[in-house]
Amino acid sequence: MTTESTDTTGSTPSVRPADAAGLTADAGLTEAVVDSLRDTADPRLRALLTALTRHLHAFVRETEPTIAEWERAIGFLTATGQTCTDTRQEFILLSDVLGVSMLVESVNGHRGPAATESTVLGPFHLTESPVRALGADIDLVGGGEPCVVSGRVLAADGTPLPGAVLDVWQADTEGYYDVQQPDVQPPGNGRGLFTADGDGRFWFRTCVPSPYPIPTDGPVGALLRATGRHPFRPAHIHFIVSAAGHTPVTTHIFVAGSDYLDSDAVFAVKESLVQDFTQTDDPSLAREFGVANPFRHARFDLVLEPV
Ligand code: BEZ
Ligand code: FE
Repeated sequence: MTTESTDTTGSTPSVRPADAAGLTADAGLTEAVVDSLRDTADPRLRALLTALTRHLHAFVRETEPTIAEWERAIGFLTATGQTCTDTRQEFILLSDVLGVSMLVESVNGHRGPAATESTVLGPFHLTESPVRALGADIDLVGGGEPCVVSGRVLAADGTPLPGAVLDVWQADTEGYYDVQQPDVQPPGNGRGLFTADGDGRFWFRTCVPSPYPIPTDGPVGALLRATGRHPFRPAHIHFIVSAAGHTPVTTHIFVAGSDYLDSDAVFAVKESLVQDFTQTDDPSLAREFGVANPFRHARFDLVLEPV
């Protein structure tokens, strides 16, 4: 095999054997790149770039992509970047569908056995969720199946964590987040920032979430189609729960019995996070929570590890 290159003196393309420097076929090229990183001041950055170089080179040696394939890969990554906006993060989505987000969560989630398991953040979290009082309804539109979500935030030893903060967000019954439909949904629909009471208790109203497809109108959608994969996520509600002196957890609760629990497009389901949304026919409890009877009720505790 030969490659074209431009000599250092000007524009005449020359044809030289790919292995002219004796680097490509053996490990010489890889070691030359690794060696070029030796003056990286930050040792962690050096370690990351060294491993990245070795893995990328091993990938190319194993798969031997054609020039056209490599150009297509570069084009795909370019389009992924160009699809990103202030409200859309196609690179996070790519990381999600390749299972990398979940892997990064797992290698960082060194929590004790009692702690609530973490899962992916996803691209629809807002840094500013609307502050709401306990018991408020985060479904500002209505029309869905009424639901109460309640429980406690606890330390690993079972002690309640008064004043714990719960940042909650979910898609509407059609499967869209408010930020995806700024002309349809009011801002803050499906979102709330709650503070647990003096016993660590929380409760809020919402509608039962539905499964929904992740966005498929960009490069990630094209990848899913090319690989015959569906884009759906099982029904879930997102939480980030934090309390003083404890490690925050980013997690979901998944609706037991939802479609796609066994084939989440972003590989984020953990068995411990699947919760019953129990059909409840109890007029006095419904009155207490301010929902129409009958209603669905999800009850669970969230457990945080000390820092
Ligand atoms: C989400 O649940 O909001 C989500 C997570 C990963 C990719 C797309 C959406
Ligand atoms: Fe979601």
